[in-house]
Amino acid sequence: MGTMFFQIFVPASGQTSITPRDCHQWGGGGKAPCYFTSLQEVKQSSSTQTGSSKTNEEEPGGSEKILNPSVRSAAKPEVDTLSAFHVQRLLGLMAATTAVLQFARLRMHPLQLWFLKHFKPLRMSQLVLLEAQKELVGYKGLGISVLEMSHRTSDVSKIIRKAENLLRELLNIPDNYKVIFLQGGGSGQFSGIPLNLIGLKEARIADYVVTGGWSAIAAKEAEKYSKVNLVHPSLPQYSKVPDPSTWNLNPDASYVYYCANETVHGVEFDFVPDVGKAVLVCDMSSNFLSRPVDVSKFGVIFADVQKNIGSAGVTAVIVQDDLLGFVLKECPIVLDCKVESENGSLYNTPPCFSIYIMGLVLEWIKNNGGVKTMDKLGEIKSEMIDDIIDNSNGFYVSVGGIHASLYNAVTIEDVQKLSAPMKSFMERHRS
Ligand SMILES: Cc1ncc(COP(=O)(O)O)c(C=O)c1O
Repeated sequence: MGTMFFQIFVPASGQTSITPRDCHQWGGGGKAPCYFTSLQEVKQSSSTQTGSSKTNEEEPGGSEKILNPSVRSAAKPEVDTLSAFHVQRLLGLMAATTAVLQFARLRMHPLQLWFLKHFKPLRMSQLVLLEAQKELVGYKGLGISVLEMSHRTSDVSKIIRKAENLLRELLNIPDNYKVIFLQGGGSGQFSGIPLNLIGLKEARIADYVVTGGWSAIAAKEAEKYSKVNLVHPSLPQYSKVPDPSTWNLNPDASYVYYCANETVHGVEFDFVPDVGKAVLVCDMSSNFLSRPVDVSKFGVIFADVQKNIGSAGVTAVIVQDDLLGFVLKECPIVLDCKVESENGSLYNTPPCFSIYIMGLVLEWIKNNGGVKTMDKLGEIKSEMIDDIIDNSNGFYVSVGGIHASLYNAVTIEDVQKLSAPMKSFMERHRS
């Protein structure tokens, strides 16, 4: 039997209808291979796997190191025990449902709502969730929740400083860089970057390397505030990074912008572009902290943290301090990196709870070997899936279909659960 392709539509929670943009919001992560599947296979698999998800007796977090020994005594969660495998299989079913509904232009079906309740565009360690659960009502014996704290208290300041220090340690961030936590998501930085940096040079030109949907949106947004130079002709399809020797960089550009991993199109840079003395800006939203990075090569790195290091609501911005102060007067003050860094990310009310969660995730990364270990595990996980695809004689095609995001918190056991049905599916359906 041939394969049938369908796209996944996973809307942000709380929406009552689904748009094509929702589909774009949920893509494959760093080193994320993609594969085709068939509706029939998804149905078969989801029905045969339902039983095993119920009888899952694994320790939450598997072989991960705990954040805090007392977490082990915490009650096992009643929900959220689905593995990446089940997520992938059931997402397929959701995709089919959603696609049908979208074509029929219907509002959400109860089945769709059920899927929305169970699947999210990120993976977080169970240990982090348990720690947050334990501290939700009373943070560190204070008798109040982080959710209730005033951002003007020293406790919130400490939460923010803890997250900053961990990030500095994990990425070995040099002292001449500021770390700030902003709101507005990665999309906010599509405007924030030109607003803060275009004034660096009089020509008000910015170089953009467009290798997928997110960098294309960023370049479009930058056009509101600057002249945009696309450094290579637009690509017929987003499938690889054009050879840097063909890039046409403008020497008068204030900065050179690129996206390290195009979450939707799966195009990932495996090198840091050499742009000489130009200011290099990178959107690392979907592979942030999945590998070591030499921060000193960049003017600015930004990442929405909801993929690899936390929950939605925070955008981490790492900016070289001598780039601050060139902001356009039209820039909303909450996107002004100088103002935010002078105020320790506390110019206005920050998303305290999301920053707290990020601190727990960063602690989890540190306790589990740091970024180098995340990198090694990432290689192992992606090789496990790549091997199947490479040995499939073209059965699995590496574009489109279901994205398997191999974010840091996806375990090797999860990937094994994904690879087994991929193999059996191929055995059954290849002619
Ligand atoms: C690489 C990349 N950049 C930017 C964004 C936009 O981020 P946000 O939804 O936080 O605005 C995304 C979202 O998925 C992304 O994957």
